[in-house]
Amino acid sequence: MKIKFNNFQEEVKEYQEEFIAAVEAVLFSGWYILGREVLAFEKEFANYLGAKHCIGVGNGLEALQISLMALGIREGDEVITTPISAVATTLAILAVKARPVFVDTTEDGLIDTNKISQALTKHTKVILPVHLYGNSVELSKILALCKRHKLYLIEDACQAHGSQYRSRKLGTFGDLGCFSFYPTKNLGGLGDGGAIVTNKNKLASLCYQIRDYGQKGKYKHVRYGLNSRLDEIQAAILKVKLKNLDKNNDKREQLALRYMHNLSKFPQIKVIKPPGDSKGNFHLFVIQTRERDQLKLYLEKSDIPVAVHYPLLIPQQLFLKGFYNCQNLPNAKKFVKRILSLPCHPQMTIQQVDYICGKINSFYYNEVG
Ligand SMILES: Cc1ncc(COP(=O)(O)O)c(C=O)c1O
Repeated sequence: MKIKFNNFQEEVKEYQEEFIAAVEAVLFSGWYILGREVLAFEKEFANYLGAKHCIGVGNGLEALQISLMALGIREGDEVITTPISAVATTLAILAVKARPVFVDTTEDGLIDTNKISQALTKHTKVILPVHLYGNSVELSKILALCKRHKLYLIEDACQAHGSQYRSRKLGTFGDLGCFSFYPTKNLGGLGDGGAIVTNKNKLASLCYQIRDYGQKGKYKHVRYGLNSRLDEIQAAILKVKLKNLDKNNDKREQLALRYMHNLSKFPQIKVIKPPGDSKGNFHLFVIQTRERDQLKLYLEKSDIPVAVHYPLLIPQQLFLKGFYNCQNLPNAKKFVKRILSLPCHPQMTIQQVDYICGKINSFYYNEVG
């Protein structure tokens, strides 16, 4: 049985006609940057999330960077964040010359809201948590902290398209919410893309300016800016994919439920699940086990692609070595040694999940006894 970690070719086949029509419409429109497709997508994604504004940008990293710039974050400011994420979360903070302050995680890899208070200083300006694997962080506690200490909240919702916390979509709780449309995401383009959402008019207009050279109207450059514009072709493709997002998230959930059912008999395995008062989008299906390295090797030898999201804490990465002491991150350190992401995407079947679980079964019964 041939199983892929992602199956983009199959996905393209599924939406082939709509994709071709969408791209053709852009081709013949003669307008390729910041035109009607981007405008329409921004409106549709904002409506889908229940947000007032959506600003299409170049990618998730720049969505975060532009959000920090819009809030005026700069050198000398501190941003509370998590050590377990795509490195882009931290790169965005460094891009505005602020200092990332890493707070330990819970056993589920999400920022531990009980440990944030002790990391606050008079320089703290923003809390930037990550809804890792599409699982919501404890937003009620974070919102309360932001209110009490007058801090901004930027949600890194780059993996959380369609996930909810207390029946409201992730990305809409913070001052700003950031999304990536990298192809592997639940809402992924055929290239790079990203978006910022906000309910605040002033922040929205700053983000519109910063993404486009700091312009307020043509050739009126009112502030420092970037070139970070979602392009028309990506927006046209994303409009097709957005229509199918909920259906595809449901499909992922069905696969995840089957995994959970099959794996519940293994005391050696813990499944990372969305927290109780939230709905996940199963961007990744992640398990934890002490035998992670052996199981990974066994599955790979059995032709089952698996991955580790992420093998190192961000402050352990080479480019940050020497800048951070990771002694205060014991849960996060343990977490990254035990996690394993199993294939889970809408082009997979329940039979494939059963097949993978069968291999996990043989691993525990034949390999580790
Ligand atoms: C949690 C998280 N934050 C930020 C990013 C950055 O997004 P992009 O790759 O579009 O720049 C990603 C994507 O890899 C991500 O998963």
